[in-house]
Amino acid sequence: MSIAINPSILSADFANLQRDLQAIATADAAHIDVMDNHFVPNLTWGPPVVKRLREISPVPFDVHLMIQDADRWAPQYAEMGCESVTFHAEAAIAPIKLARTLRESGAKAGMALRPATGVEPYLDMLPELDMLLIMTVEPGFGGQKFLEVTLPKIRRAARAIEGAGLDLVLQVDGGITEETILRAAEAGATCFVAGSSVYNTADPQAAIASLRAAAQSVEADFKATCCH
Ligand code: DX5
Ligand code: ZN
Repeated sequence: MSIAINPSILSADFANLQRDLQAIATADAAHIDVMDNHFVPNLTWGPPVVKRLREISPVPFDVHLMIQDADRWAPQYAEMGCESVTFHAEAAIAPIKLARTLRESGAKAGMALRPATGVEPYLDMLPELDMLLIMTVEPGFGGQKFLEVTLPKIRRAARAIEGAGLDLVLQVDGGITEETILRAAEAGATCFVAGSSVYNTADPQAAIASLRAAAQSVEADFKATCCH
């Protein structure tokens, strides 16, 4: 599985989003954090803004919906052409149905887990997904510290994906730096969201390259510890 670096525009300059999307043209995708002030205590943008930004973006969109009532709101992000749409397991009433709807609309279907949400209840539905997002901070804000306590869950998810032979991207989001990316990659993550460590630097493309090189330098070790 190849490595992907998806910068989060939550740390971009909101008065210069077009410029700041161009600034990450070497990324695999732009990570778009949608917050509704209900699922998380913060508020960002909604469908009209995301739709217009998608039209001018040089890279695909990886939409992360931190919103309640995901069943109702998620499909329109797929319909407007966002390449990947991730809803939270804690916010979806019918996650299997929703994942199928997203795929039918032409998007990749992602499902996210808050740091304290276990992966085990969702193992049987992993084939319904194209991406599993394990949050490595409590969702809501950029610039937080990586939660080491999530590493065993990343490892268990990676083993389950490998064991079932699934073509599923394992994404991590929150507190990813050149240092923490090493541990997340060792645990088996393959797709890395990074907000402050890309945009709060003088050269976002250099930051993307450094993160990519760091992740590529690591061989996931979950296979060695797996019991098969
Ligand atoms: C947090 C968001 C993240 C955030 C990451 O709720 O989901 O995508 O932008 O920001 P950093 O990389 O600064 O932790
Ligand atoms: Zn996010």
